[in-house]
Amino acid sequence: MADKAEFYWPWPDMPAESLLKRARTVSKRAYAPYSKFKVGAALLLSDGSIVLGCNVENASYSMTICAERGAVACMVSIGHLDPVAIAVAGGKSGAPCPPCGACRQVLAEFNPDMLVVLESPNKIIVMSVNELLPLSFSLTERK
Ligand code: THU
Repeated sequence: MADKAEFYWPWPDMPAESLLKRARTVSKRAYAPYSKFKVGAALLLSDGSIVLGCNVENASYSMTICAERGAVACMVSIGHLDPVAIAVAGGKSGAPCPPCGACRQVLAEFNPDMLVVLESPNKIIVMSVNELLPLSFSLTERK
């Protein structure tokens, strides 16, 4: 019998592994001529649709847009505000590419319970944004 998944994942139609594959694929489109570190993000929305993003660097380094924030901007621009999960892949295949602190705060804005899927050498990692960024800043009281 197959092992039971070791993490909570309530979307059987879109396995975490498939979402991660989408993130890895879009990472290849990243514009990262300076760092050469290509990142891809795949956001799963509550209606089952997927929005992608990749990092876009700039000669003025601090203008760089991370893959996760690119995906969030794309989500909002197509009229959605309801991400339920995000997969992130970047750098060496199989190594985790966890969202940076700024991206964690941006993800928390839309859903602190969002699940974050990361590559890892043996089995994939699934954690919530809340776990990655406890006590994230909010102008309103969080439940
Ligand atoms: N990067 C992301 O796209 N997401 C993150 O969460 C961290 C870093 C990008 C920014 C930059 O283009 C490259 O990775 C190296 O820092």
